Amino acid sequence: MIIDSVVGIIGWPVSHSISPIMHNRAFLQMGLTNWCYVPMPVANYGRIKEAVLGLRALGFKGANVTIPYKEAVVPYLDRLSDDARAIGAVNTISIDSEGRLVGHNTDGLGFIKDLLEHSVEITKKRVLILGAGGSSRAIVYAMLAHGCKNITIVNRTKTKADDLAAAFQSLFKEAVIETKELSPDALRKITADIVVNTTSMGLGNDTQSPWDEALAFSQDQLVYDVIYNPKVTPLLKQAGCDGAQALNGIGMLVHQGALAFEIWTGLKAPLAVMKKAALAT
Ligand code: ATR
Repeated sequence: MIIDSVVGIIGWPVSHSISPIMHNRAFLQMGLTNWCYVPMPVANYGRIKEAVLGLRALGFKGANVTIPYKEAVVPYLDRLSDDARAIGAVNTISIDSEGRLVGHNTDGLGFIKDLLEHSVEITKKRVLILGAGGSSRAIVYAMLAHGCKNITIVNRTKTKADDLAAAFQSLFKEAVIETKELSPDALRKITADIVVNTTSMGLGNDTQSPWDEALAFSQDQLVYDVIYNPKVTPLLKQAGCDGAQALNGIGMLVHQGALAFEIWTGLKAPLAVMKKAALAT
């Protein structure tokens, strides 16, 4: 068997990433036995330029980019998709036939596709986004681009929420985008149909929640946490106990990966197989 089409994931750390398993399973399913997905740990932040340009030198077909490099890779790419330019971050790189490095961002669309899969309508919904980092930028942009008209961004550092809101308000003039500093009082005053956590609170062994425990969710609310490890964060546990619909980030992970697979291979991704591989880890 000859492997001549290599892709992988640039980040630090990447040893726990589900993406290699998910993509290699997808290549197998599609009969792409010449394709391989490898982890590419870049421990030294100062070496990210070498890592990105090395993709071209080594004849890679593309790469995913994860924490902490989604913004850092941008200066070394030859071209950006409209989504990646608007979001200001890249999670997928493709390399065209002339060797040009093209940056894409499939995180936001991956999130929207997961909502669609769960029959969640967003155009008439009031949305509350917790956090104003890279994930938040991708999700806020995608929600606005898909017709959401009412978003409140709540963040510990309010100026970051303000910057994000200002950047997207100029692109989506008819939307109402508000910002607040994260506090129990601010959360109490916001009415939202959909609450999305993009902060790292609750990630891994973190037992914190961005939400105020004294503030109950209602049955008609959707609470979405982009975290998928653990599968049930303290936020999702509270949402579930209160009877709200609770979704973790595994669906977004699978859909962003499927979109990357399609960019690299030009083939429709085997979504069910990718989801099964991701859930089995
Ligand atoms: P990502 O790319 O995953 O979005 P990021 O850009 O580092 O990661 O953003 C992390 C988000 O989690 C930010 O909104 C951050 O808030 P600040 O902008 O104030 O830093 C938020 N966050 C992380 N730890 C937090 C904590 N302990 N309390 C509240 N917010 C937190």
